[in-house]
Amino acid sequence: MRNICGAIAILAWSSTAMAGASTPVADPIADGKVLVDAYCSDCHVVGRTGESPLPIAPRFRDLNLRYDVEDLSESLVEGIVTAHEAMPEFEFDPIQAAAIIAYLKSLSEPDKNQ
Ligand code: HEC
Repeated sequence: MRNICGAIAILAWSSTAMAGASTPVADPIADGKVLVDAYCSDCHVVGRTGESPLPIAPRFRDLNLRYDVEDLSESLVEGIVTAHEAMPEFEFDPIQAAAIIAYLKSLSEPDKNQ
């Protein structure tokens, strides 16, 4: 847990630093991308292409097909627990959870940036 708290502090710092560098407008999708890159990408493919490093971990871009990703919000805050022990338990604050959801939802929309 201590490591995770440290990582969150660094994340909070780096996303603030990045926001300051370009635009002061909060961008939940970008924040969500930072979070999933940091916490989820060891196992899940988090982008629009490629396969999960851990093949049994679902591609994030497929989660939209399987769930209403809004429903994940509660799980992100209260701790996602899956039947699979390969998936660690996470707890995010509501703002982080909203950012992750925003990012996941963005994957089901046409890509504006590429
Ligand atoms: C250590 C590897 C690992 C990491 C890190 C990881 N996951 Fe997973 N995740 C898995 C595996 C394996 C499954 C498949 C579990 C199963 O089918 O029971 C999974 C399944 C899921 C599912 C689907 C759950 C379901 O009930 O079908 C969601 C949503 C999910 N992960 C979200 C995340 C998020 C969000 C993060 C980052 C905050 C994350 N995962 C990080 C391994 C991981």
